[in-house]
Amino acid sequence: MSEISKLPRHVAIIMDGNGRWAKAHKLQVAQGHRRGTETLRSIIRESSDLGIEALSLYAFSTENWKRSPAEVGALMSLLLEYFTSEIDELDEKNVRIRILGDKDGLPGPQKQALIAAENRTRENTGLKLNIAINYGARDEILRAVKELAGRAARGEIAPEAITAADFEAALYTHGLPDVDLLIRTSGEMRLSNFLLYQCAYAEMTFPTVLWPDFSLEDYHSALAAFGKRDRRFGGRNE
Ligand code: IPE
Ligand code: IPE
Ligand code: MG
Repeated sequence: MSEISKLPRHVAIIMDGNGRWAKAHKLQVAQGHRRGTETLRSIIRESSDLGIEALSLYAFSTENWKRSPAEVGALMSLLLEYFTSEIDELDEKNVRIRILGDKDGLPGPQKQALIAAENRTRENTGLKLNIAINYGARDEILRAVKELAGRAARGEIAPEAITAADFEAALYTHGLPDVDLLIRTSGEMRLSNFLLYQCAYAEMTFPTVLWPDFSLEDYHSALAAFGKRDRRFGGRNE
C-alpha cells in the first residue's frame, strides 16, 4: 500500500449493484446480496488492517422498503446471519460497531442483534464501523431538528444559541469526523439519501464495478486516488 500517501479518516461506501450482478449471473437477487456480504467482509477487514479511523457502509435505506417483500425479507435474513456469524471476529479485531438509522423500524430479532453488537463492541478502540440500516439522511436531519426543537421548547437551549456542534451531536454520526471519501460502486452517480450533511466536503468516486465484484485492488485505487486530490474546502492551497 506504499502508493497510498494520505489515508482518509472517514470512508463512506454506497454498496450498489447486487441486483445487476445477480441478473448478469442469472441468479436470484438474494444471491447477489449474499455475494455482496462477502465483499463487505473483505472491505471491513482491509479497512481495519490499514488503520482507517471510520468506515460507514450503506446497507439498507429508508426507501429500500419499497422493494418486494421477498427481497426485503432476504436482506433482513442476511443481516441477522451476518451479525451472528461476524460479531466474534469483529470484536476480536477491536472494531467498534455503530448502527446509523432507525432500529425501531426493524423486525425484533434484527433490532436485538444490532443492539447486542453495539453494546458488545462499545469499548473497542479500533476501526469505527458504522452500518446504515433503515437509514435516510433526510430522516436523520429531521430527527435532529425535532430533538433540538424539543430542547428549545423545554427551555433547555436558546434557539439563537444553537451551534453546528449541537446539530452534529443530534445526528446518528455524532462524534465521527466528516466523510473524507465517498465510494459508490456500480457506476450510479448519486447519493440516494446517504450522509447528506456529513458529505458536504467529501471527495467522491464512482467505480463502475458492481459491489459483489469490488476487489481489494479497486478499494486500493479509490484510496490512492483520494491521496492525490487537492482538497481546498473553499480556500486556496499554495
Ligand atoms: C445494493 O444493491 C444493495 C441494497 C440496496 C440493499 P442493489 O440491490 O441496489 O443493486 P442494483 O442497483 O439493483 O443492481
Ligand atoms: C442505495 O442504493 C441504498 C443502498 C446501497 C443500501 P439504491 O439502489 O437503493 O439506490 P437508488 O434507488 O438506485 O437510488
Ligand atoms: Mg441499487
